[in-house]
This record gives sequence, structure tokens and C-alpha cells, in this order.
Amino acid sequence: MFFRNRFLFLLALAALLAFLSLSLQFLHLIPVNPVKEDGLNSKNRKRIMPDPLTEPPPIDPIYEAQFYCNNPTVPERSMEGHAPHYFKLVSVHVLIRHGDRYPLYAIPKTKRPNIDCTLMPNRKPSHPQLEAFIGHMSKLGSEAKMDSTLSGMPRYPSHLLCEMGELTQTGVVQHLRNGQLLQDIYIKKHNLMPNDWSAKHLYLETTGKSRTLQSGLALLYAFLPDFDWKKINFRHQWSTIFCSGNCVCPIRNYYLGEDQRRQYSLRVTNIRLEKTYADMAKIIGIPTKQLRASNPIDSMLCHFCHNVSFPCTMNGCINMEHFKVIKTHQLEDEKERQEKKYYYLYALLATHPLLNQTVNRMQRITEGKSEELFVLYSAHDVTLSPVLSALGITEARFPRFAARLVFELWKDEKKNKEHFIRILYNGVDVSSQTSFCRDYNRRYNKPMCPLEKFVHFVKQDMFSPFNSTNYYDACRRRLF
Ligand SMILES: *[C@@H]1O[C@H](CO)[C@@H](O)[C@H](O)[C@H]1NC(C)=O
Ligand SMILES: *[C@@H]1O[C@H](CO)[C@@H](O)[C@H](O)[C@H]1NC(C)=O
Ligand SMILES: *[C@@H]1O[C@H](CO)[C@@H](O)[C@H](O)[C@H]1NC(C)=O
Repeated sequence: MFFRNRFLFLLALAALLAFLSLSLQFLHLIPVNPVKEDGLNSKNRKRIMPDPLTEPPPIDPIYEAQFYCNNPTVPERSMEGHAPHYFKLVSVHVLIRHGDRYPLYAIPKTKRPNIDCTLMPNRKPSHPQLEAFIGHMSKLGSEAKMDSTLSGMPRYPSHLLCEMGELTQTGVVQHLRNGQLLQDIYIKKHNLMPNDWSAKHLYLETTGKSRTLQSGLALLYAFLPDFDWKKINFRHQWSTIFCSGNCVCPIRNYYLGEDQRRQYSLRVTNIRLEKTYADMAKIIGIPTKQLRASNPIDSMLCHFCHNVSFPCTMNGCINMEHFKVIKTHQLEDEKERQEKKYYYLYALLATHPLLNQTVNRMQRITEGKSEELFVLYSAHDVTLSPVLSALGITEARFPRFAARLVFELWKDEKKNKEHFIRILYNGVDVSSQTSFCRDYNRRYNKPMCPLEKFVHFVKQDMFSPFNSTNYYDACRRRLF
């Protein structure tokens, strides 16, 4: 009896083990065919058998469009200000894209989307500080030192029917939220600004568009509530790539041109896209060429982000299918752009002056020669996009409305007072994705990137793809 029971027990156990082993194999929890741990073999195997779990998911144009809209109701997680306790925050440099705006182009012969650009605290989306913001912006503020181009500009949007390119209430709220988030982290948690901060602690720069100035003011207002206008000195940057006095770089535009050529050939080989444009042109009653030239996706994104139905004519309506096809193409274009090198080479040359300026600022602070604690550049997608590319953050999405790229400068109070940086894009720590810190991070598994790495990249390594060691040379080198 005893033996028989034991036999049955062992039988049952064996069956259970067999079952477990099978199911584990089925679920890919253990390898079916363990290969020897020689790197070569496992590499080959990877290439032959793509893992269904790591295969990139297909592009979802609706999800991506929603992300781009950046509807300010979804709570946001952010990794800004995370550091070991013995690190001290020294300064913060923020590069933003303006918030949600009215389209820059109209689709010919259709009704413009009816969007109200006045600010109304009781209309959604809103923000607890919106009313106080309007009040503060309406104060004379003649003490503010602003470059002449900026001083005559409205400080907040105010048209019943938005003007082309005007910041909307959504755009203002997005940047109030950005400012509040940065205040919570940098001011309340890390005491970045002294209570009696003054003009010398800030460096503010914006392009000459009302939407960038207003976005910058909204962020600043929530970051430093009820700031004293006398301490505010917004500088005007005429160049969208912030190249200031170093814009002469003949080769830069050659690379941009090459990327545009790439973009053109991708477009004309996309039959589905061409059909969509033709279909839309027929609905509207204009030549396809004219429709394409009006850059309809810009306007359609406005309809989409504001939940306003697409325009109709007597011949029919522009619809979600049209939108999906064009948006998908846009995403494919960005993906290809990151894979080909022309845009990258353009980006290195385009962003050197701005990165150089940032590095210089950081170095001056570490040497105690300056007290700029908070730096804000209020800019455009065409500013952020090349910066991301130049830094090597190829995974990054195209800059959405109110996107923010943050450079944090930290001092290690324990070890030799060394300086480190962190780079965050929309709250995500992307430091270890940058070309200059990727290997360092992998090797040392450090929470931060040494400032020296960044300095070396900007002063020298970013020119190595041009077989040069400096900006002047790289910009003038003869091609091939
Ligand atoms: C969008 O508009 C439609 C009708 O115009 C409405 O039913 C829907 O709830 C709206 N969606 C959002 C997210 O506001
Ligand atoms: C970079 O910064 C240095 C100061 O360290 C300056 O002399 C130089 O003109 C800058 N170059 C460019 C191209 O911005
Ligand atoms: C740099 O030099 C290499 C090798 O000589 C060459 O293949 C490459 O095209 C050069 N790059 C540029 C941008 O001229």
C-alpha cells in the first residue's frame, strides 16, 4: 500500500513536471533550445528569429496625434529633479516649444475652424492660475525690460476668432502647467531660486512671435508667481535655430536641402497619400497641387486637437481616413529622417551655436562667474527637433505642443565638487540616450552624465562627422 501510493505520487509529480516544462516552453518562459553562451551564436539566432514581443508595434496615427495635441487634462509624470541627496542643483536650462496654436495655413475654400482665442478661466481647459495670469499680464509692466520687437506685443491671446498662428487658451494652460510643475520641483523642492531673486538670476530669450513670447510668460508666471516686472528681461532672438551672431554656415543649408529631397521622394512614392490628396482636392474643388501647398495637416490637426469636425463642402467632407493617411505619412517621414544622415548633419551645424551658448553658461556658473540659475528659451518645433537629433536622442518623438527639453546642472557635494548634467524631454530622463553619455552610462551605470562629456561633445566631437574639429571649419568644408 505504502509503495503503491508512493509510485502514484511520483507518477503524478512526473506528469506535473512534464506539463510545467511544456507550458513554460509554450509561453517562451524558458528557451526551447538553449544555445551556448558564445555571443556570436546568440546574435545570429536573434537575427533569424525576430522576437514577437520586441517587434515594433505598428504606427497608430490617432494615438500619436493625441500625444501631439498634449491635451492639458491628463496628469503628467515627470522625472525632473531626481538626484542622490548629496547632489546640489546648480542651474536649470529649459527649451520649450510654444503651446497649442491656431493653424499657420488655411485650407483654401473651406471654413476656418471656429476657435476662440480669448482667455476665459471658466472655459475648459483651464488652470487655477489662469485668472491671476491674465491680471498680471494686464498690469502695465512698463518696467519690464524687453527688446523693442517684443515690448509692443500682446502678452496674452485675445481674439474672438483666433488669428493665424495665435496661441490658444489650451496653449496658455499647457505652459502654466509646465511652469507649475517646474516650480514644484525646482523651487519648492530644490530651492533653486533665492527668495530675493533678481534679474541677474534669469536669462530669458524668445523668438519674435506672439505665441512664443506668450508661452514663455505663461511658464514663467507659474514658475515665479506674481513676479516683479522689473526683474524680467526678455531678449528677442530673430533666428528660429537661435544661432544669434553665428548664423553664417553655408554647408548647413546644403544638408537641409538634401533632407528635403529625401522627403520629396518619400512623398511621391506613397501612392495612398497621393490618392488621399487627390480625393480631398476633389471634395474642396481645387487642384491637388494647391491643396498640398496649403499644408492641410496643420489645419486638420487643429480640428483634431480641438474636437471640431473636419470641413465639408457640397461635394462631401474631409474625414478621419484622410487624416490618418496623412498623419501616418508624417510619422513615417520622421522615422526615415532619423535613419538617414542628412538631417542629423544639418542638426549638428544648426544647433551648435545654441548648445555652445548653453555650455558656456554652465561653465560660467561652475566657475562662479555668473549667477544665471534659470534659463528659458521659448521656441518652435524647428528649434527643438534639430537639438534632439544633434544630441543623438533618436527615439524622441517630434516636439508636441508645449514640449519641454530641460538641462539640469548638478554639483556632487561629496566627490571633488564635480559637475554633472541631466537631460529630460517632456519629463523623461533621456541623458543616457545622448551620443556623448550613452557609453559612459552603460559602463559606469551612473545616475548622471559628467558636464565634461557634454562640453567635449559641443566644443569638439560634434564636428567629427564633418572630419573637422570646429564650427567654422565644418561650415565651410568643401563637399566631397
Ligand atoms: C467631441 O465632439 C463630439 C460631438 O461634436 C462629442 O460627442 C464628444 O464627446 C466630444 N469629445 C470630447 C473629448 O470632447
Ligand atoms: C562658442 O563659444 C565660445 C566661447 O567659449 C565663443 O568664443 C565662440 O564664438 C562660440 N562659437 C559659436 C559658433 O557659437
Ligand atoms: C570624412 O572622411 C571620411 C574618410 O575620409 C569620408 O568617408 C567622409 O565622407 C568624410 N565626411 C565628410 C562629411 O566629408
